Amino acid sequence: FSRYFYYRENQLFCENIPIKEIASKVGTPFYLYSKQAILDRIDQYKKAFEEYNTLICYAAKANSNLSILKIFEENDLGLDIVSGGELYKAKKAGFPSNKIVYAGVGKTDFELEYAIRENILSFNVESEMEIDVLDELAEKLNKTVRISIRVNPDVDPKTHPYISTGLRKSKFGIDIDEALNVYRKAVKKKNIDVIGIHCHIGSQIMEISPYVEAVEKTAELVFRLKKEGIELQHFDIGGGIGIRYRPEDNPPTPEDLAKAVIPIVRTTGLRLIIEPGRSLIGEAGALITQVVFLKNKGDKHFIIVDSGMNDLLRPAMYNAYHHILSVEKKERKVVADIVGPICETGDFFALDREIDDVQRKDYLAVMSAGAYGSSMSSNYNVRPRAAEVLVSDNSFYLIKEREDYSYITKLEEDAMASLITE
Ligand code: LLP
Repeated sequence: FSRYFYYRENQLFCENIPIKEIASKVGTPFYLYSKQAILDRIDQYKKAFEEYNTLICYAAKANSNLSILKIFEENDLGLDIVSGGELYKAKKAGFPSNKIVYAGVGKTDFELEYAIRENILSFNVESEMEIDVLDELAEKLNKTVRISIRVNPDVDPKTHPYISTGLRKSKFGIDIDEALNVYRKAVKKKNIDVIGIHCHIGSQIMEISPYVEAVEKTAELVFRLKKEGIELQHFDIGGGIGIRYRPEDNPPTPEDLAKAVIPIVRTTGLRLIIEPGRSLIGEAGALITQVVFLKNKGDKHFIIVDSGMNDLLRPAMYNAYHHILSVEKKERKVVADIVGPICETGDFFALDREIDDVQRKDYLAVMSAGAYGSSMSSNYNVRPRAAEVLVSDNSFYLIKEREDYSYITKLEEDAMASLITE
């Protein structure tokens, strides 16, 4: 499938370990990541943007496992966060505050105060009311906060509607036509330092042209602000570069993005910030699951596995395609629905898919699951969340233990007991 996940003598390897070996030790399901794949992607981004003053802020929402965050931190990346919880993890992983940017339409007072105290680089604010509240909270805490205004450039990123964020009708950002006025008001606030502009048009974007359109539109606003004496420091263009889900997919590269946007951002003279999430971690990960049962119904063949939509929601939520490989290659192929154990029709990984003729206890690898896999998982059907494993060359490390039942019930037990005694 890639340099990091490949077959050798009919065994699927991650770097230099047969996945079957890890599965028999760790049990299933688990998320599996190749450290080298992550490092190579970081390198690719760094090289692509080295010619221009750029801060790469990994979007933590794609995968916020602490050991994964640590890899980005050790490689000097910044972090794009969307919640107090992600800020907490950022600090645990050691990210310096001056490399943290914080987006989100619904930051609570608690979250805002937390981030004000941590003195983060920039709040990417998404409404006028948020600016007012930030100013009040900063006043109360006797601080000044730095903000960037997230503008909505009204550009169609040509991706799934659920992950398109830059259209006028979406809840994100401030419409670009209204942004000028909002900037005028924001610069008058006593406890606010307006330092940047932000846009993010969507995710899993497979073409560069929507970026060019969005960045050009946003740059125009930067110039109008300059004319009014509002000088900014950075231009944050968000994330969104797509990855390979199907073997034949051909997403844009970090170089493609850099070549397209750097010339435009350069005309503004501002420092560039980018917020890639999926494209730094997505292809580096796979979800490993074991076949529980096989069954035929009419002319349909079902492969039922021990992982479901609670572990990987993307197929159910976006009808997303994930390539699926057999961990031990088989001679024969079948056409099957690969489904989970959850009581929902939407609980599938693939429908009518041609796949190796796997048997009970065989393992499957759901590919390109490093981003928005474990980070979107849940305990639905009281299923413990999966373990997570990081591979480096011929070693592997358990970077998240599998949850157990007592962990899941822990926060409910005392309440139940006290209700009984009342
Ligand atoms: N910056 C902002 C403000 C964002 O909202 C996002 C993603 C990113 C950066 C990172 O975008 P990326 O480079 O990862 O495309 N759960 C969906 C994806 C939701 C993306 C939300 N925002 C999925 O599984 O496809």
